[in-house]
Amino acid sequence: GNVPLEMHKVRIVQKLNLVSIERRLEAIKEAGNNTFLLKNRDVFMDMLTDSGVNAMSDKQLAAMMEADDSYAGSETFTKLENKITEIFGKKYFLPAHQGRACENILSQAFVKQGSVIPMNYHFTTSKAHVYLNGGTVEEIIIDEGLNITSEYPFKGNMNVEKLKALITKHGAEKIAFVRLEAGTNLIGGQPFSLQNMKEVHTVCKDFDIMLILDASLLADNLHFIKTREEVCKNMSIREITRAMADLSDVIYFSARKLGCARGGGICTNDKAVYLKLRELVTLYEGFLTYGGMSVREMEAIVVGLDETMDENMINQGPQFIEYMVNELKKHGVPVVTPAGGLGCHINAMEFLSHVPQSQYPAGALASALYLVSGVRGMERGTVSEQRDENGNETFSNMELLRLAMPRRVFTLSQVNYAIDRIRWLYENRKLVGGLTFVEEPPILRFFFGKLATA
Ligand code: F0G
Repeated sequence: GNVPLEMHKVRIVQKLNLVSIERRLEAIKEAGNNTFLLKNRDVFMDMLTDSGVNAMSDKQLAAMMEADDSYAGSETFTKLENKITEIFGKKYFLPAHQGRACENILSQAFVKQGSVIPMNYHFTTSKAHVYLNGGTVEEIIIDEGLNITSEYPFKGNMNVEKLKALITKHGAEKIAFVRLEAGTNLIGGQPFSLQNMKEVHTVCKDFDIMLILDASLLADNLHFIKTREEVCKNMSIREITRAMADLSDVIYFSARKLGCARGGGICTNDKAVYLKLRELVTLYEGFLTYGGMSVREMEAIVVGLDETMDENMINQGPQFIEYMVNELKKHGVPVVTPAGGLGCHINAMEFLSHVPQSQYPAGALASALYLVSGVRGMERGTVSEQRDENGNETFSNMELLRLAMPRRVFTLSQVNYAIDRIRWLYENRKLVGGLTFVEEPPILRFFFGKLATA
Protein backbone atom coordinates (compact mmCIF):
# COMPACT_ATOMS: atom_id res chain seq x y z
CA GLY A 1 0.00 0.00 0.00
CA ASN A 2 0.90 3.65 0.27
CA VAL A 3 2.93 3.37 3.45
CA PRO A 4 5.74 5.94 3.53
CA LEU A 5 9.27 4.59 3.67
CA GLU A 6 11.99 6.49 5.52
CA MET A 7 15.11 6.96 3.42
CA HIS A 8 17.31 7.66 6.43
CA LYS A 9 18.18 6.11 9.76
CA VAL A 10 17.92 7.72 13.16
CA ARG A 11 21.25 8.27 14.93
CA ILE A 12 20.47 10.84 17.61
CA VAL A 13 17.20 10.92 19.53
CA GLN A 14 15.49 13.27 21.91
CA LYS A 15 13.26 12.01 24.71
CA LEU A 16 9.61 13.04 24.62
CA ASN A 17 7.14 13.54 27.46
CA LEU A 18 3.53 12.48 27.40
CA VAL A 19 2.14 14.23 30.47
CA SER A 20 -1.18 13.22 32.05
CA ILE A 21 -4.47 14.59 30.81
CA GLU A 22 -4.86 16.44 34.12
CA ARG A 23 -1.60 18.31 33.47
CA ARG A 24 -2.62 18.93 29.86
CA LEU A 25 -5.84 20.54 31.04
CA GLU A 26 -3.87 22.84 33.34
CA ALA A 27 -1.31 23.57 30.65
CA ILE A 28 -3.82 24.58 27.98
CA LYS A 29 -5.62 26.79 30.53
CA GLU A 30 -2.33 28.47 31.42
CA ALA A 31 -1.73 28.97 27.68
CA GLY A 32 -5.10 30.69 27.24
CA ASN A 33 -6.15 27.99 24.75
CA ASN A 34 -3.40 29.26 22.46
CA THR A 35 -1.05 26.46 21.40
CA PHE A 36 1.72 29.03 20.73
CA LEU A 37 1.86 29.58 24.48
CA LEU A 38 2.32 25.94 25.51
CA LYS A 39 5.68 24.87 26.89
CA ASN A 40 7.47 22.07 25.08
CA ARG A 41 7.72 20.06 28.30
CA ASP A 42 3.94 19.67 28.15
CA VAL A 43 3.89 18.70 24.47
CA PHE A 44 4.17 15.14 23.12
CA MET A 45 4.20 15.65 19.33
CA ASP A 46 5.02 19.20 18.33
CA MET A 47 3.18 19.71 15.05
CA LEU A 48 2.94 23.48 15.46
CA THR A 49 5.22 24.19 12.54
CA ASP A 50 7.92 22.87 10.25
CA SER A 51 9.91 26.05 10.80
CA GLY A 52 13.37 25.51 12.31
CA VAL A 53 12.42 22.06 13.62
CA ASN A 54 13.24 19.75 10.73
CA ALA A 55 15.83 17.07 11.39
CA MET A 56 19.37 17.98 10.37
CA SER A 57 21.59 15.51 8.57
CA ASP A 58 24.97 14.15 9.61
CA LYS A 59 26.45 16.12 6.70
CA GLN A 60 24.92 19.35 7.96
CA LEU A 61 26.26 18.83 11.46
CA ALA A 62 29.70 18.01 10.08
CA ALA A 63 29.70 21.16 7.94
CA MET A 64 28.77 23.28 10.95
CA MET A 65 32.07 22.28 12.56
CA GLU A 66 34.16 23.85 9.83
CA ALA A 67 32.56 27.26 9.77
CA ASP A 68 34.74 30.30 9.18
CA ASP A 69 33.79 32.98 11.67
CA SER A 70 34.45 36.65 10.99
CA TYR A 71 32.47 39.87 10.91
CA ALA A 72 33.37 40.55 7.29
CA GLY A 73 34.57 38.39 4.43
CA SER A 74 33.84 34.98 5.92
CA GLU A 75 34.63 31.96 3.73
CA THR A 76 31.40 30.40 4.93
CA PHE A 77 29.41 33.25 3.43
CA THR A 78 31.24 32.89 0.13
CA LYS A 79 30.34 29.19 0.14
CA LEU A 80 26.67 30.07 0.65
CA GLU A 81 26.72 32.77 -2.00
CA ASN A 82 28.26 30.32 -4.48
CA LYS A 83 25.69 27.65 -3.62
CA ILE A 84 22.85 30.12 -4.24
CA THR A 85 24.38 31.04 -7.61
CA GLU A 86 24.87 27.38 -8.49
CA ILE A 87 21.29 26.38 -7.65
CA PHE A 88 19.25 29.47 -8.54
CA GLY A 89 21.51 31.08 -11.13
CA LYS A 90 21.39 34.43 -9.33
CA LYS A 91 24.54 36.54 -9.00
CA TYR A 92 23.61 38.61 -5.98
CA PHE A 93 22.74 37.18 -2.57
CA LEU A 94 21.70 39.11 0.53
CA PRO A 95 21.57 37.26 3.86
CA ALA A 96 18.84 37.85 6.45
CA HIS A 97 18.02 36.36 9.83
CA GLN A 98 14.78 34.73 8.62
CA GLY A 99 11.98 34.93 6.05
CA ARG A 100 10.04 37.82 7.51
CA ALA A 101 13.22 39.88 7.62
CA CYS A 102 13.41 39.49 3.84
CA GLU A 103 9.78 40.59 3.67
CA ASN A 104 10.53 43.65 5.76
CA ILE A 105 13.40 44.62 3.47
CA LEU A 106 11.51 43.97 0.23
CA SER A 107 8.43 45.83 1.47
CA GLN A 108 10.41 48.82 2.70
CA ALA A 109 12.26 48.97 -0.60
CA PHE A 110 9.31 48.61 -2.98
CA VAL A 111 5.94 49.15 -1.26
CA LYS A 112 4.63 52.73 -1.12
CA GLN A 113 1.41 54.33 0.11
CA GLY A 114 -1.28 53.03 -2.24
CA SER A 115 0.77 50.17 -3.71
CA VAL A 116 -1.08 47.00 -4.62
CA ILE A 117 0.62 43.62 -4.26
CA PRO A 118 -1.04 40.70 -6.03
CA MET A 119 -0.27 37.32 -4.45
CA ASN A 120 -1.51 33.81 -5.12
CA TYR A 121 -2.29 33.93 -1.39
CA HIS A 122 -1.00 35.96 1.54
CA PHE A 123 1.18 34.68 4.34
CA THR A 124 0.66 36.35 7.75
CA THR A 125 4.04 38.12 7.93
CA SER A 126 4.24 38.94 4.21
CA LYS A 127 0.87 40.67 4.38
CA ALA A 128 1.68 42.51 7.62
CA HIS A 129 4.85 44.02 6.10
CA VAL A 130 3.02 45.20 2.99
CA TYR A 131 0.37 46.91 5.13
CA LEU A 132 2.98 48.47 7.44
CA ASN A 133 4.40 50.21 4.38
CA GLY A 134 1.02 51.52 3.18
CA GLY A 135 0.22 48.90 0.57
CA THR A 136 -2.62 46.43 0.17
CA VAL A 137 -2.61 42.76 -0.75
CA GLU A 138 -4.85 41.25 -3.45
CA GLU A 139 -5.21 37.49 -3.26
CA ILE A 140 -5.86 36.02 -6.66
CA ILE A 141 -5.64 32.31 -6.04
CA ILE A 142 -7.61 30.17 -8.54
CA ASP A 143 -11.13 29.35 -7.32
CA GLU A 144 -10.19 25.70 -6.85
CA GLY A 145 -7.57 26.80 -4.30
CA LEU A 146 -10.29 27.60 -1.76
CA ASN A 147 -12.16 24.38 -2.40
CA ILE A 148 -11.32 22.33 0.67
CA THR A 149 -11.93 18.95 -0.89
CA SER A 150 -10.57 18.73 -4.37
CA GLU A 151 -8.58 16.53 -6.68
CA TYR A 152 -6.93 19.48 -8.37
CA PRO A 153 -3.15 18.98 -8.29
CA PHE A 154 -2.11 22.67 -8.28
CA LYS A 155 -4.41 24.53 -5.91
CA GLY A 156 -1.69 27.14 -5.31
CA ASN A 157 -1.97 28.49 -8.87
CA MET A 158 -2.53 32.19 -9.42
CA ASN A 159 -5.54 33.23 -11.50
CA VAL A 160 -3.80 34.85 -14.47
CA GLU A 161 -6.96 36.53 -15.80
CA LYS A 162 -7.50 38.17 -12.41
CA LEU A 163 -3.86 39.31 -12.45
CA LYS A 164 -4.36 41.04 -15.80
CA ALA A 165 -7.61 42.60 -14.59
CA LEU A 166 -5.91 43.94 -11.45
CA ILE A 167 -3.12 45.50 -13.48
CA THR A 168 -5.62 47.09 -15.87
CA LYS A 169 -7.68 48.40 -12.95
CA HIS A 170 -4.83 49.94 -10.93
CA GLY A 171 -2.24 50.61 -13.64
CA ALA A 172 1.10 48.79 -13.71
CA GLU A 173 2.91 51.58 -11.84
CA LYS A 174 0.78 50.91 -8.73
CA ILE A 175 1.78 47.25 -8.64
CA ALA A 176 4.97 47.22 -6.58
CA PHE A 177 5.57 43.56 -7.41
CA VAL A 178 3.75 40.28 -7.83
CA ARG A 179 4.42 37.73 -5.09
CA LEU A 180 4.13 34.05 -5.84
CA GLU A 181 4.35 31.77 -2.81
CA ALA A 182 5.64 28.23 -3.32
CA GLY A 183 3.80 25.53 -1.34
CA THR A 184 1.06 28.05 -0.51
CA ASN A 185 1.05 27.92 3.26
CA LEU A 186 -2.34 29.14 4.47
CA ILE A 187 -4.48 27.12 2.07
CA GLY A 188 -2.88 23.83 3.11
CA GLY A 189 0.64 23.79 1.68
CA GLN A 190 -0.66 23.63 -1.90
CA PRO A 191 1.72 23.94 -4.88
CA PHE A 192 1.55 25.96 -8.09
CA SER A 193 2.60 24.44 -11.41
CA LEU A 194 5.58 25.47 -13.49
CA GLN A 195 3.11 26.19 -16.30
CA ASN A 196 1.21 28.64 -14.09
CA MET A 197 4.43 30.34 -13.09
CA LYS A 198 5.35 30.74 -16.78
CA GLU A 199 2.00 32.41 -17.46
CA VAL A 200 2.36 34.74 -14.47
CA HIS A 201 5.89 35.57 -15.61
CA THR A 202 4.66 36.46 -19.11
CA VAL A 203 2.07 38.88 -17.73
CA CYS A 204 4.66 40.47 -15.43
CA LYS A 205 7.08 40.90 -18.35
CA ASP A 206 4.38 42.43 -20.56
CA PHE A 207 3.71 45.09 -17.93
CA ASP A 208 7.29 45.39 -16.69
CA ILE A 209 6.37 44.28 -13.15
CA MET A 210 8.78 42.46 -10.86
CA LEU A 211 7.95 38.82 -10.02
CA ILE A 212 9.05 37.83 -6.52
CA LEU A 213 9.10 34.17 -5.51
CA ASP A 214 8.67 33.28 -1.84
CA ALA A 215 10.67 30.05 -1.88
CA SER A 216 10.29 29.19 1.82
CA LEU A 217 8.24 26.10 0.97
CA LEU A 218 10.05 25.42 -2.31
CA ALA A 219 11.02 21.85 -1.40
CA ASP A 220 7.39 20.66 -1.27
CA ASN A 221 6.46 22.57 -4.41
CA LEU A 222 9.39 21.02 -6.29
CA HIS A 223 8.30 17.54 -5.26
CA PHE A 224 4.75 18.17 -6.47
CA ILE A 225 5.85 19.64 -9.80
CA LYS A 226 8.06 16.61 -10.33
CA THR A 227 5.34 14.09 -9.42
CA ARG A 228 2.18 15.83 -10.65
CA GLU A 229 3.13 17.89 -13.72
CA GLU A 230 3.36 15.64 -16.75
CA VAL A 231 5.84 17.78 -18.73
CA CYS A 232 8.25 17.90 -15.76
CA LYS A 233 8.38 14.15 -15.09
CA ASN A 234 11.69 13.82 -16.87
CA MET A 235 13.27 16.95 -15.44
CA SER A 236 15.62 16.69 -12.48
CA ILE A 237 14.84 18.63 -9.29
CA ARG A 238 17.77 20.88 -10.15
CA GLU A 239 16.34 21.60 -13.59
CA ILE A 240 12.90 22.40 -12.19
CA THR A 241 14.46 24.68 -9.58
CA ARG A 242 16.43 26.50 -12.22
CA ALA A 243 13.37 26.88 -14.45
CA MET A 244 11.47 28.46 -11.54
CA ALA A 245 14.39 30.70 -10.65
CA ASP A 246 14.76 31.87 -14.26
CA LEU A 247 11.14 33.04 -14.17
CA SER A 248 11.70 35.06 -10.95
CA ASP A 249 13.24 38.52 -10.72
CA VAL A 250 13.78 38.12 -7.00
CA ILE A 251 13.72 35.01 -4.81
CA TYR A 252 13.54 35.14 -1.03
CA PHE A 253 13.26 32.37 1.50
CA SER A 254 13.07 31.41 5.11
CA ALA A 255 15.91 28.93 5.64
CA ARG A 256 14.01 27.74 8.70
CA LYS A 257 12.04 25.63 6.24
CA LEU A 258 14.31 25.55 3.19
CA GLY A 259 17.74 24.25 4.10
CA CYS A 260 16.56 22.87 7.43
CA ALA A 261 18.31 25.36 9.69
CA ARG A 262 17.83 29.00 10.60
CA GLY A 263 18.22 32.18 8.62
CA GLY A 264 17.07 33.30 5.22
CA GLY A 265 18.01 35.42 2.26
CA ILE A 266 17.21 37.22 -0.96
CA CYS A 267 18.78 36.70 -4.37
CA THR A 268 18.51 38.42 -7.75
CA ASN A 269 20.39 39.13 -10.95
CA ASP A 270 19.26 42.77 -10.98
CA LYS A 271 22.06 45.00 -9.78
CA ALA A 272 19.83 48.02 -9.14
CA VAL A 273 17.52 45.89 -6.98
CA TYR A 274 20.51 44.45 -5.15
CA LEU A 275 21.93 47.90 -4.36
CA LYS A 276 18.57 49.13 -3.12
CA LEU A 277 18.16 46.19 -0.76
CA ARG A 278 21.77 46.15 0.37
CA GLU A 279 21.59 49.21 2.56
CA LEU A 280 18.49 47.88 4.32
CA VAL A 281 20.25 44.59 5.03
CA THR A 282 23.09 46.37 6.78
CA LEU A 283 20.61 48.51 8.73
CA TYR A 284 18.33 45.74 9.95
CA GLU A 285 20.18 42.44 9.67
CA GLY A 286 23.92 42.93 9.99
CA PHE A 287 26.90 43.13 7.72
CA LEU A 288 26.53 41.67 4.23
CA THR A 289 28.48 38.52 4.97
CA TYR A 290 26.22 37.27 7.75
CA GLY A 291 22.94 39.23 7.85
CA GLY A 292 21.94 38.07 11.32
CA MET A 293 22.94 34.44 10.77
CA SER A 294 25.68 32.57 12.57
CA VAL A 295 28.34 31.00 10.36
CA ARG A 296 27.25 27.57 11.59
CA GLU A 297 23.74 28.20 10.33
CA MET A 298 25.10 29.31 6.97
CA GLU A 299 27.18 26.12 6.67
CA ALA A 300 24.06 24.07 7.41
CA ILE A 301 22.06 25.94 4.78
CA VAL A 302 24.71 25.27 2.10
CA VAL A 303 24.33 21.54 2.71
CA GLY A 304 20.56 21.81 3.23
CA LEU A 305 20.12 23.46 -0.17
CA ASP A 306 22.05 20.65 -1.82
CA GLU A 307 19.93 18.08 0.01
CA THR A 308 16.79 19.87 -1.21
CA MET A 309 17.86 18.94 -4.72
CA ASP A 310 17.53 15.26 -3.75
CA GLU A 311 14.12 13.77 -4.57
CA ASN A 312 14.52 11.10 -1.86
CA MET A 313 14.89 13.82 0.73
CA ILE A 314 12.12 16.19 -0.32
CA ASN A 315 9.55 13.43 -0.78
CA GLN A 316 9.64 12.51 2.92
CA GLY A 317 7.35 15.30 4.17
CA PRO A 318 4.75 14.95 1.40
CA GLN A 319 4.65 11.12 1.77
CA PHE A 320 3.98 11.24 5.52
CA ILE A 321 1.42 14.00 5.03
CA GLU A 322 -0.37 12.06 2.29
CA TYR A 323 -0.53 9.01 4.54
CA MET A 324 -2.03 11.01 7.40
CA VAL A 325 -4.52 12.80 5.15
CA ASN A 326 -5.65 9.57 3.50
CA GLU A 327 -6.05 7.70 6.79
CA LEU A 328 -8.15 10.51 8.26
CA LYS A 329 -10.22 10.86 5.11
CA LYS A 330 -10.89 7.12 5.12
CA HIS A 331 -12.46 7.53 8.55
CA GLY A 332 -14.59 10.50 7.60
CA VAL A 333 -12.50 13.22 9.25
CA PRO A 334 -12.76 16.40 7.13
CA VAL A 335 -9.30 17.28 5.76
CA VAL A 336 -7.90 19.48 3.00
CA THR A 337 -7.36 17.48 -0.19
CA PRO A 338 -5.35 16.72 -2.15
CA ALA A 339 -2.66 16.29 0.52
CA GLY A 340 -0.19 19.17 0.24
CA GLY A 341 3.19 19.91 1.74
CA LEU A 342 3.90 21.43 5.17
CA GLY A 343 1.38 19.36 7.08
CA CYS A 344 -2.03 17.76 7.38
CA HIS A 345 -4.82 20.33 7.52
CA ILE A 346 -8.11 19.57 9.23
CA ASN A 347 -11.21 21.49 8.20
CA ALA A 348 -12.43 22.82 11.55
CA MET A 349 -15.48 24.51 10.04
CA GLU A 350 -16.86 21.06 9.24
CA PHE A 351 -15.26 19.15 12.14
CA LEU A 352 -16.88 21.55 14.62
CA SER A 353 -19.87 22.57 12.50
CA HIS A 354 -21.76 23.42 15.73
CA VAL A 355 -19.20 26.16 16.60
CA PRO A 356 -19.88 29.48 14.79
CA GLN A 357 -16.95 31.16 13.03
CA SER A 358 -17.16 34.05 15.52
CA GLN A 359 -16.13 31.50 18.18
CA TYR A 360 -13.00 30.41 16.32
CA PRO A 361 -13.60 26.74 15.47
CA ALA A 362 -9.98 26.18 14.38
CA GLY A 363 -8.67 27.63 17.65
CA ALA A 364 -11.11 25.51 19.64
CA LEU A 365 -10.05 22.38 17.75
CA ALA A 366 -6.34 23.09 18.30
CA SER A 367 -6.98 23.40 22.02
CA ALA A 368 -9.15 20.26 22.19
CA LEU A 369 -6.68 18.13 20.22
CA TYR A 370 -3.88 19.11 22.56
CA LEU A 371 -6.03 18.16 25.53
CA VAL A 372 -6.88 14.68 24.22
CA SER A 373 -3.46 13.81 22.80
CA GLY A 374 -0.60 16.11 23.74
CA VAL A 375 -0.31 16.87 20.00
CA ARG A 376 0.28 20.55 19.38
CA GLY A 377 -1.12 21.96 16.14
CA MET A 378 -1.59 25.53 14.95
CA GLU A 379 -4.76 27.50 14.37
CA ARG A 380 -4.91 28.75 10.79
CA GLY A 381 -8.26 30.49 10.64
CA THR A 382 -9.88 33.64 11.94
CA VAL A 383 -7.64 33.93 15.02
CA SER A 384 -4.73 34.25 12.55
CA GLU A 385 -6.46 37.17 10.81
CA GLN A 386 -6.51 40.77 11.96
CA ARG A 387 -9.57 42.93 12.71
CA ASP A 388 -10.39 45.61 10.10
CA GLU A 389 -9.99 49.35 10.78
CA ASN A 390 -13.46 49.43 12.42
CA GLY A 391 -12.59 46.62 14.79
CA ASN A 392 -14.73 44.02 13.03
CA GLU A 393 -13.57 40.46 12.62
CA THR A 394 -12.09 39.49 9.27
CA PHE A 395 -13.46 35.99 8.87
CA SER A 396 -10.92 33.68 7.33
CA ASN A 397 -11.76 31.89 4.06
CA MET A 398 -10.92 28.63 5.78
CA GLU A 399 -10.84 27.49 9.40
CA LEU A 400 -7.95 25.04 9.48
CA LEU A 401 -6.13 23.18 12.19
CA ARG A 402 -2.67 22.70 10.78
CA LEU A 403 -0.67 19.69 11.93
CA ALA A 404 2.76 20.39 10.49
CA MET A 405 5.04 17.48 9.67
CA PRO A 406 8.61 18.46 10.56
CA ARG A 407 10.72 16.61 8.00
CA ARG A 408 12.30 13.33 9.11
CA VAL A 409 11.34 13.94 12.76
CA PHE A 410 8.39 11.66 13.56
CA THR A 411 8.08 7.91 13.09
CA LEU A 412 5.06 6.31 11.50
CA SER A 413 3.87 5.00 14.90
CA GLN A 414 3.80 8.54 16.22
CA VAL A 415 1.83 9.67 13.19
CA ASN A 416 -0.55 6.74 13.77
CA TYR A 417 -0.98 7.86 17.37
CA ALA A 418 -1.98 11.34 16.20
CA ILE A 419 -4.42 9.83 13.69
CA ASP A 420 -5.98 7.65 16.40
CA ARG A 421 -6.50 10.61 18.75
CA ILE A 422 -7.97 12.79 16.00
CA ARG A 423 -10.42 10.02 15.14
CA TRP A 424 -11.45 9.77 18.79
CA LEU A 425 -11.95 13.51 18.95
CA TYR A 426 -14.01 13.44 15.77
CA GLU A 427 -16.31 10.81 17.23
CA ASN A 428 -16.68 12.96 20.35
CA ARG A 429 -16.66 16.35 18.62
CA LYS A 430 -19.86 17.58 20.28
CA LEU A 431 -17.85 17.87 23.52
CA VAL A 432 -15.90 20.82 22.05
CA GLY A 433 -17.24 24.36 22.50
CA GLY A 434 -16.20 27.70 21.01
CA LEU A 435 -13.76 30.33 22.29
CA THR A 436 -13.66 34.07 22.90
CA PHE A 437 -10.68 36.41 23.34
CA VAL A 438 -9.79 37.52 26.85
CA GLU A 439 -6.51 39.15 25.81
CA GLU A 440 -6.25 40.37 22.22
CA PRO A 441 -3.11 42.08 20.90
CA PRO A 442 -3.80 44.29 17.84
CA ILE A 443 -1.01 42.92 15.59
CA LEU A 444 -0.44 39.21 14.86
CA ARG A 445 -2.80 38.38 17.73
CA PHE A 446 -2.47 34.65 17.17
CA PHE A 447 1.02 34.64 18.66
CA PHE A 448 0.18 36.06 22.11
CA GLY A 449 -3.60 36.26 22.38
CA LYS A 450 -5.41 34.38 25.14
CA LEU A 451 -8.86 32.85 24.84
CA ALA A 452 -11.44 31.26 27.10
CA THR A 453 -14.57 29.16 26.66
CA ALA A 454 -17.20 31.27 24.91
N1 F0G B 1 6.84 32.76 3.84
C1 F0G B 1 6.26 31.56 4.07
C2 F0G B 1 5.56 30.87 2.94
C3 F0G B 1 6.31 30.99 5.34
O1 F0G B 1 5.73 29.82 5.54
C4 F0G B 1 6.98 31.68 6.38
C5 F0G B 1 7.01 31.13 7.74
C6 F0G B 1 7.57 32.92 6.11
C7 F0G B 1 7.48 33.42 4.82
C8 F0G B 1 8.27 33.71 7.16
O2 F0G B 1 9.47 33.10 7.46
O3 F0G B 1 9.26 32.44 9.87
O4 F0G B 1 11.49 32.60 8.75
O5 F0G B 1 10.23 34.63 9.29
N2 F0G B 1 6.22 30.24 8.16
C9 F0G B 1 6.25 29.66 9.50
C10 F0G B 1 5.10 28.71 9.67
C11 F0G B 1 6.32 30.66 10.59
O6 F0G B 1 4.98 28.17 10.78
O7 F0G B 1 4.34 28.45 8.74
P1 F0G B 1 10.15 33.20 8.94
